[in-house]
Amino acid sequence: MTHEGERVEALLAGLTPQEKAGQLTQYFYFTLPGEADPALGVDAGEQPREVEAALARGGAGALLFVTDPAEINRLQRLGIEGNRLGVPVLFGFDVIHGLRTIFPVPIAMAASWDLETIERGQAVAGREARAVGIHWTFAPMVDIARDPRWGRIIEGAGEDPFLGAAVAAAQVRGFQSGGIIAGPKHFAGYGAALGGRDYDEANISEYELWNTYLPPFRAAVEAGAGNIMTAYMDLNGVPASGSHWLLTKVLRDTWGFEGFVVSDANAVKNLETHGFAATPAEAASRGLLAGVDLEMAVSEPVYVHLPAAGIDDAVDVSVRRVLAAKQRLGLFDEPYVDEDRAREVLADPAHREAARVAARRSAVLLRNEGDLLPLDAGALGSIAVLGPLADSKRDTLGPWVFDFDLDETVTVLEGIRRAVGDGVRVEHARGVAVSQRTYPSMFDMFGGNRPEDPAGFDEEAEFARAVEVAAAADVAVVVAGEHQNMIGEAASRSSLELPGRQLELIQAVVATGTPTVLLVMNGRPLDLRWPAGHVPAILDIWYPGSQGGHAVADLLFGAHAPGGKLPFTWPRTVGQVPMFLGHTRSHEPQHQFKRYWDEESTPLFPFGHGLGYGRFTYDGLTVEPATAGPDDTVTVSVDVTNTGQRTSPEVVQLYLHQRHGRASRPVRELKGFERIELNPGETRRVSFTVGPRQRQYWHPAVRDWVLDAATFDVWAGGSSSATLTTTFEIREP
Ligand code: NOJ
Repeated sequence: MTHEGERVEALLAGLTPQEKAGQLTQYFYFTLPGEADPALGVDAGEQPREVEAALARGGAGALLFVTDPAEINRLQRLGIEGNRLGVPVLFGFDVIHGLRTIFPVPIAMAASWDLETIERGQAVAGREARAVGIHWTFAPMVDIARDPRWGRIIEGAGEDPFLGAAVAAAQVRGFQSGGIIAGPKHFAGYGAALGGRDYDEANISEYELWNTYLPPFRAAVEAGAGNIMTAYMDLNGVPASGSHWLLTKVLRDTWGFEGFVVSDANAVKNLETHGFAATPAEAASRGLLAGVDLEMAVSEPVYVHLPAAGIDDAVDVSVRRVLAAKQRLGLFDEPYVDEDRAREVLADPAHREAARVAARRSAVLLRNEGDLLPLDAGALGSIAVLGPLADSKRDTLGPWVFDFDLDETVTVLEGIRRAVGDGVRVEHARGVAVSQRTYPSMFDMFGGNRPEDPAGFDEEAEFARAVEVAAAADVAVVVAGEHQNMIGEAASRSSLELPGRQLELIQAVVATGTPTVLLVMNGRPLDLRWPAGHVPAILDIWYPGSQGGHAVADLLFGAHAPGGKLPFTWPRTVGQVPMFLGHTRSHEPQHQFKRYWDEESTPLFPFGHGLGYGRFTYDGLTVEPATAGPDDTVTVSVDVTNTGQRTSPEVVQLYLHQRHGRASRPVRELKGFERIELNPGETRRVSFTVGPRQRQYWHPAVRDWVLDAATFDVWAGGSSSATLTTTFEIREP
C-alpha cells in the first residue's frame, strides 16, 4: 500500500461510527445576508449555528457555499479541532462560470465550440476558487437539454451528445488543472424533466439514455472527474439519487469511476418524499447502498442514521473515497489558505482578459442582412443604445454567480461608450422594463441577485423617449432578453416570448427607419420570429460576464469577428418544443412537410447556425477509404475557403447519417467539429476521423453497443443545414 493509502486506512480505523457519518455529511453554510427562505425550509439565522455545532463535534466532513478565505480558514479550524483525528473539511461551491472573474454562462461557452477557450475559462475559475479555499466545484452541468422551457438549459452545453461530451471533458480538464475537483452533474437525465418543469420526473427510453443523455457523463469520467453529483428527479420511476443501477452499475462497474459521489442538496432525504423510503433512516441506507457517498444537506442530514444502519462495510467504502479525495487535494498537509495570495489571484488581470476573449468567442451572429455589422465607428455620428438590459450590470453577469464584483462589470452601454470614445454621441434609454411582474427566485436571498427594473418607472414616457432617441441616431442597438433570474434553477417558463413590452420596443425602433442591431441577452432560445424577419442584424451575446460589454463592442465595431454557433435548435415558438436535430424519420420528407397547421415544421435557426464577417464556401469533400471494415477508421476531409473581405472564425462541422441498420438512426448527427480562423482568400483543408466509436450506438434490444454494416451519408459545412455531401460504406465483418 502507498504511503497515502496507509494514511487513509489509519484514519479510517480510528474514526468512530458517528465520525464516519460526519465525514459523509456536507452542510450548506450561509454566511450571506438573507432571511428565512420558505422554499428551502431553512432559517438563515439558525443554520450557521447548527453547522458550527456539527463541525465542533466532528459531524461535518464537508461544507458548501462559503467563499471568503478568512471565513473558510475559521471554519476549517473549527472542523479540524472538532474531530479527534484532525481530519480537514472539504469545501465545495457552485463555481459554474467563474468565481470573481465571471465568464459567459455555460451555454454561451458551449456556443464558442472552442474547447481551448472553455478549458481555459474553467482553469481560471478553478484557480480563483482554490485560492480562496474552495476545493471542489459542483460543475460542469452536463445534462443534455432539449426543452428550452427548462431554465437549467443555460447551465449545460445544449442538445447534442457529441458537443456535450467534448465540452464536458474540456471543463473537467480546466477545473482540475486549476486545482479543484470537478463534479459533473446531475447524474442522470435531469434535462428531460416533463414539460421543462424543474425537478419533474424524467422518462427516458433506454435508447435515448445511452445514446443521448449518458455520453457527456462518460466523457467527463474519462477526463478524470473526481466527483459526480446525483440528480433530483425520478428516472423511469426510480429516484436518480437512489438508483443503484445508475450510481453503481453504470458509473462504477461499467465506466470504472473511482471518485466520490455526492447527492444533490437534500436529495437523500428526499428519497422519503419520493416514496422510495419510509423513514429518514431508510432513506440514508438506500442512498448509501445505491452509491451516494456524501450527503449534501441544507439541514438535518439523514446520514446521522448510518451508525445504526448495520451497513458498516459500505460506509467504510464511502468514507475511504472521501478521505482519499482530501488526501489527493493535499489537505492533510495544507488545510488553510493564504488570504493575501487569494486577493492577488482574484485580481489577476489575465483572468479578466480570458473572460473578454471567451465572451467574444461565444457570441453567435444569427442574422446580418446587408452586412450591417460590423459598424464603422468612424462613419457614425451617434448611436442609440436601448433596452432594459443595455446597462444592467447584474444581468450582464448571468445567473449562478455570487462572488462577483459589480463595480468592474462592463455593460454593453459602457463597452460601446469606451470603444467609440468622445467622437460619437452615445445616447441611452431603457425604453421598457424587462418585466412588470416580479419573478421571485430562490436566489433572491443572496444579496445582489434581484433584477434591476427600477421602481416607479414610467414606461409610457420612457418608451416614447427611446423611440425618439432611436429616430435621431445613425444606428440603434437594442439589448433585449430575460432577466438573469428568469432562467437557471427553479426558473422554467411556459412561454419563450420576450418578456414585457420588449418586442414592441424593437418594432417601434425598427419603424423609425434607423438601421437596427438587436443584441439578445439570454440563456435559452426566445421567440424571435418577428425580429428574424425584420431586424437586419441579430447578435446573441448571452449573459456575457464581467467583461461582456467590452467583448460585445469588440464585435460590433469589427475589431474581432463573431464565430459562435448555436448549441441547440432554435424553435420558432414554444409550441414546437421539443425540437432538436437528432430525431429519426418515419415518413418521406414530402409527407411530413406540414406537421403543424399553424406553424412551420422547421426551426427558426438550425443547430450549429452562426454567421461571421467572412463568407465561407465548402468543397472537395472526400472520405478515405470510401469503403471500410467495421473496426476501421475513415478520414473525412473538406476544403474551407473564406471568400469574404474580412478575417473571420468559422466552426467546421461534420454530420453523419446511417442509412440503414438494426435501428432507425437520427437524420443527422454531429460527429466532428473544429473552430478555425481564415483570412480573406485563405483556404484550409480540415480533416476528421470517424472510427467505430463515432458510429456505434446503443441498441435497446441487444442491450449493448452495436456497429452496423451500412451506407453513411456525410455532410460538412458551417451548420447542420450543410448541403455538401458524400457517402461511405461500412462492410460486413
Ligand atoms: C441544487 C442544484 O440542483 C445543484 O446543481 C447545486 O449544485 C446544489 N443545489 C448546490 O448549490
